[in-house]
Amino acid sequence: MELHLFGAATPTGEALRHQASGADPAWPLHVYSRQANGQSGSTGITHPADFSNPRAFRPAGEPGAPAIWISFGPIWLLAPFLDQLARGQPQRLAGLRGLIACSSSSAITKRFAANRFDRELVARLSGAEDQLLATCHRLQVPCRILQPTLIYGQVGPYQDRNLSRLLQLMRRLPCLPLPAETGLRQPIHASQLAAVALHLTRQLLGPGWDAALPERIPLGGDVELSYRAMLQALQQAQPPADPARRCRLLPIPNPLVFLLAAPLLLRSPKAYEAVLRMGADLAGFMPSHQLLAEPPQPFPLCEPVAP
Ligand SMILES: NC(=O)c1ccc[n+]([C@@H]2O[C@H](COP(=O)([O-])OP(=O)(O)OC[C@H]3O[C@@H](n4cnc5c(N)ncnc54)[C@H](OP(=O)(O)O)[C@@H]3O)[C@@H](O)[C@H]2O)c1
Repeated sequence: MELHLFGAATPTGEALRHQASGADPAWPLHVYSRQANGQSGSTGITHPADFSNPRAFRPAGEPGAPAIWISFGPIWLLAPFLDQLARGQPQRLAGLRGLIACSSSSAITKRFAANRFDRELVARLSGAEDQLLATCHRLQVPCRILQPTLIYGQVGPYQDRNLSRLLQLMRRLPCLPLPAETGLRQPIHASQLAAVALHLTRQLLGPGWDAALPERIPLGGDVELSYRAMLQALQQAQPPADPARRCRLLPIPNPLVFLLAAPLLLRSPKAYEAVLRMGADLAGFMPSHQLLAEPPQPFPLCEPVAP
């Protein structure tokens, strides 16, 4: 069985590469990128793949060899890519035995957003999930879609765009005003998400999926904590001299925060809703340790979050 990895230039993709190389047995891993030229670089050989150009795609490895595809790239590009390959060049998918693709919990949590941008994102994610599942059903290839919430962590040269940015903000500011009451979060480290993708790969190679697993798996880390507690835990995890530890989290009554942010409504309703969401519970997803049948991991994981 060969693994084909799309969206490798992400913290999760990088974590998967590390974990797959240490796996026993070690599977041949083919890595794709839009920038690839088939040459061996610092991260090994990468092969060209652009989801926008299915006609140019040639799967790496043995032609027709049994393969599992894992994608951490944009699912709204992957879905039409697979559909067009299946219709136009089905021979390129001859070896495909399973697909694990990354979507986002935003497909669930932003469904009832008041702003158009977030509603369009939901439509894009859900439409792509439907299309991917429909193509896989047609091909009779098993597929699982991971819907992770709040991915964090720095893995190799790649870092997330959530907690890393908040940490960098706390390093610059003496204080950070926050709503006094913040909602729950369930951050998942990129390495936990990669471990889940590999776990599902192993299931596919064995007797098959756990029958209880839905096709779409809303997924989180192992700790649910308030947005404020998440920032505090992040501060505490830094070395003593790190300036982020000195940033004071300033509690402001929620109605006052929302009032102060009101001008955003004119400039960016999406940003205003992001402020409102600080008070919302975005948790209750399947904890990754439950899927992995391992003990729960702390937050933050003892891995770098940002440089
Ligand atoms: N960031 C979050 O908090 C978050 C939350 C929930 C879910 N997710 C999901 O997690 C995954 C990783 O997210 P991310 O924010 O780290 O990365 P991202 O910016 O969504 O994706 C970047 C990756 O996708 C590949 N890619 C982009 N366009 C492509 C195309 N046209 N054809 C082929 N590959 C393409 C890039 O490869 P090259 O540049 O090498 O071609 C790169 O490896 C995504 O599936 C995302 O939807 C992210």
